[in-house]
Amino acid sequence: MSNSGEAELIHVFKGIRFTIRSSPELLKHLDTFDAREDDVLLVSYPKSGTHWLAGIVTKLYNTQVTLTSPIEFGDISKLEELNKLSSKRIIPTHLDYNMLPSNFKNKKCKMIYISRNPKDTAVSMYHYYRDNPNLPTIDTWTAFFDLFLKGDVVCGSWFDHFLSWEEHKNDKNILFLFYEDMKKDLPKIVKEITLFLGLNISDNDIQDICKKSSFSEMKSNTEKENSDPNHTVCALTSNRKLVFRKGAVGDWKNHFTPKQNRRFEEIFNEKMKLSKM
Ligand code: A3P
Repeated sequence: MSNSGEAELIHVFKGIRFTIRSSPELLKHLDTFDAREDDVLLVSYPKSGTHWLAGIVTKLYNTQVTLTSPIEFGDISKLEELNKLSSKRIIPTHLDYNMLPSNFKNKKCKMIYISRNPKDTAVSMYHYYRDNPNLPTIDTWTAFFDLFLKGDVVCGSWFDHFLSWEEHKNDKNILFLFYEDMKKDLPKIVKEITLFLGLNISDNDIQDICKKSSFSEMKSNTEKENSDPNHTVCALTSNRKLVFRKGAVGDWKNHFTPKQNRRFEEIFNEKMKLSKM
C-alpha cells in the first residue's frame, strides 16, 4: 500500500482510526451529547448495509423523522446542530459500544445493530477505499486484507466492533440484524424492525417498503438525486453513488485466495472465541 494521504486524511482517537471528517474535538465531547428517549440509533461497522437499513427505517414512519448524518461526523458544532432538530431523530453511527455517548445508554434509546459477514465487509471496504478520495490510497487487495485483519482501517477492528456490541445483544433496547438475513427474507426482517420500534404497519405496506428498498431501486434513486454532503448516512463520503456497488452475498470468494481464507478463518476463530453468536 502506498501511504499517500494517510497522514493528511486519518487521525487516531482512543486507538481507533477516524477520517479528519470526524474532528478530534467532536469525538472528545461526544459524552456531552443530549440524547432524547425517542432517538433511534442505526449502528454498524462501515460497509455492513447501513444505507439499506436507513432507507428502510425512514420509510416506516408516517410522522416526520429526520435521518441525521452520523453522530461522529463533523466538528463540535454537530452537537448543537442535532440539538436544534425538533422532529424525531434517526441517528446513524459507526462508533463501537464503548465510545457511544453514555446518554444514549442511560436513556435506553432504541438501537439497531446491523452486521455482515466480515469477509464481504472487507471486500466492500476495499472497493470503498479505492474509490473514495476521503480515504488513504490502497494499492492492492493483499495490502488491504492485512490492514483489515490488523484493524488498521477506519473505525478500527471489525472483531472489536462486533464484540463490543454483541455483549449487549440481550439488552431490550438493542436489536441485532444480519445483512444476509435481510437478503434472504427482507419482509420478515422489516416486520421484526417494526415490532421492535413499536410501529403498526400492514403486511401490504411492508411489501411495498421492501420493493422500494431493493438494491436496484436504491441505486437508481441515488443516481438521480443530488445528495447533500452534510446529510449523508456515511461519515466517510458525501458521494452516495460510491455506496451501491454490488449488494451481494459472497463476493469475498472473488477476492480471497485460499491462503487468505485460511488465515482469515484462523483469526476469526481466535478473536470470536468470546462470541456467543
Ligand atoms: P457492496 O460494496 O458489497 O456492494 P454501508 O451502507 O454500510 O456503507 O454498506 C454498503 C454495502 O451495502 C455495499 O455493499 C452496498 O452495495 C450494500 N447495499 C446498499 N444498499 C443495499 C440494498 N438495498 N440491498 C443490498 N445491499 C445493499
